[in-house]
Amino acid sequence: MTDKITLRTPDDWHLHLRDGAMLRAVAPETARHFARAIIMPNLVPPVVTGAQAVAYRSRIMAALPKDTPFQPLMTLYLTEDTDPDDLARAHAEGLITAVKLYPAGATTNSSSGVADFDKVRPVLERMAEIGCPLCVHGEVVDADIDIFDREAVFIDRVLDPIRRATPGLRVVMEHITTKQGVDYASQGGADLAATITTHHLVINRNHILAGGIKPHYYCLPVAKREEHRLALRKAATSGAASFFLGTDSAPHTDANKLLPCGCAGCFTATNTLSILAEVFEQDGALDQLEAFASINGPAFYGMPPNQGTVTLTKGAPVSYPAQIETDDGPVTVFDPMMPLHWRVHD
Ligand code: DOR
Ligand code: ZN
Repeated sequence: MTDKITLRTPDDWHLHLRDGAMLRAVAPETARHFARAIIMPNLVPPVVTGAQAVAYRSRIMAALPKDTPFQPLMTLYLTEDTDPDDLARAHAEGLITAVKLYPAGATTNSSSGVADFDKVRPVLERMAEIGCPLCVHGEVVDADIDIFDREAVFIDRVLDPIRRATPGLRVVMEHITTKQGVDYASQGGADLAATITTHHLVINRNHILAGGIKPHYYCLPVAKREEHRLALRKAATSGAASFFLGTDSAPHTDANKLLPCGCAGCFTATNTLSILAEVFEQDGALDQLEAFASINGPAFYGMPPNQGTVTLTKGAPVSYPAQIETDDGPVTVFDPMMPLHWRVHD
């Protein structure tokens, strides 16, 4: 029986760090185990220019110990007014790694996102030319589309037309939650990939809604039926190059989660690696964890995998805090509803 694994240091290809007190509390949770992370730009106001991305990066580094090897990979928030020249300059200067597309109204702080996809066509064409990846929150927002169908409908109505109209555009389907997402990403060739979160490998919609409502399992895209969770597990544990880890760790204070209209997001930065090891072991795929967490992501983004390693050992259940404290109030750590036996050695 395997009781020790060593992986290249993993990266998180989709992460929310926020700002201010929240940033100071959550950034070390990711920097402890991850070498790099793609940082989401949905601050208030959003990160829309290269200069704002540089300033945000400095605030992130200031929240970490001076000698941290952690590298935040910055993104711009795509709006209908994004200037293709500013974007291209920021990309050429290495200030940003990718651009994030939020359909307006799809999720937390997405009101400045895109409502009319034709308006961003020139920006997308420029991104295809310069090889800047587009990270996509793939859900339609139409009131008449059931929330459990929004990802599948987005693929048909928005994503596929955009990809056909913009050959060469490199796209990451962020936090896929459906077997339609898995199928589309599998067939998309080298310019398409998908991230999968830790929590979507663990929960289905019953965990949110059956036996009482569980706000800490509410995130967007919302977890779907069990058959979809199983499709995500199969994709993640397959080792296939199209799939890699993007935790979408999205901290909100408990005060903001436990409201009549609570915020979407699961905070998984603290225990993600232990959960992933448990999940991959359950599926007999510990040997694919490195591909998912450390190899496929950098390969898609054209970066070398990390040189360092992390080691996990299996033993008595590991303890982790139920909440982390921030100066804005406590943030609940994702509860995977199972003991975690894999301890991460820093
Ligand atoms: O659950 C989510 N939380 N999904 C998102 O797309 C945004 C995120 C957040 O920023 O809180
Ligand atoms: Zn996110």
